Amino acid sequence: MSKPILLVTRRLPESVEARAASSYQARFNPADQRTTQAGIVEGAAGADAVLCCPADRMDAATIALLPASVRVIGTFSVGTDHIDLPACAARGIAVVNTPDVLTEATAELTMLLILAAARRAGEGERMVRAGEWTGWAPTQMLGTLVSGRRLGIFGMGRIGQAVARMAQGFGMKVHYLNRSHLPEERSHGAIYHDTWDTFLPLCDVLSLNAPGGAETRHWLNAERIAHLPRGAIVANAARGSLVDDVALIAALRSGHVAAAGLDVFDGEPALHPDYMTLENVVLLPHLGSATVETRRAMGMLALDGIDAVLGGARPANLV
Ligand code: DGY
Repeated sequence: MSKPILLVTRRLPESVEARAASSYQARFNPADQRTTQAGIVEGAAGADAVLCCPADRMDAATIALLPASVRVIGTFSVGTDHIDLPACAARGIAVVNTPDVLTEATAELTMLLILAAARRAGEGERMVRAGEWTGWAPTQMLGTLVSGRRLGIFGMGRIGQAVARMAQGFGMKVHYLNRSHLPEERSHGAIYHDTWDTFLPLCDVLSLNAPGGAETRHWLNAERIAHLPRGAIVANAARGSLVDDVALIAALRSGHVAAAGLDVFDGEPALHPDYMTLENVVLLPHLGSATVETRRAMGMLALDGIDAVLGGARPANLV
């Protein structure tokens, strides 16, 4: 019997591609070019499965054009906001993602954003590289401690929970805003809030860890920013769409938000050009899950899910 056909939209870690090549007639993207709707639709001709990434726009129009042979889409991500899930359901296409395996990596990156913003790491690095460092000085580039400060986590899923655990190691007092109140073993002692207006005034540091999508679009807007204490720090390793960039930029300029660490951007890889002009923002290129171990595990989990769906099973990572 011939192997099923799998379209792989972007380059994947070697071991993941090797497994895909042994189990499937795999169509790879060796040049790792950014995909277009036409490219995905053409590449999927006759395919049983597609393995895509958050950078691919799997919107309703793209899903509608996929051939009837496609039974499952695996995404190399935990986030699914780039995929029109109702459109997939309407066509009977299953979707599988990569939860759990990227939790620690993304939480570590969140801590990096918080620390880098609080301690002015981006600014300091730029100064050293520009050859402008004239030596140690008692008042040079003073940031702020995170230990003893209050961290508010918006979105207490797996990654938010891991951030809570790690932040406590830094001596932070953790609060969280979430739809549900979590049991102690998952909240790690963090204090629950069910409304943003009581939560935000407590956030010396605010970490966004909620999923993207219509429900959370521009959640951090001017009204909510005004509820943060003056001098707050904002970190976003979740989705750029959570932030109203114009409002955050105004707050970074006024000092209401002292600093921000951003790994994700609305419309990335494009980002609001004003971020480039601000010293008090650390900008990273969506590195949350970017470790060798994590990316390998993500690929293997996505393939496990695709294998299971094509084999007639219901995998745990079915969205
Ligand atoms: C995800 O998994 O959704 C991330 O954004 C990719 O690292």
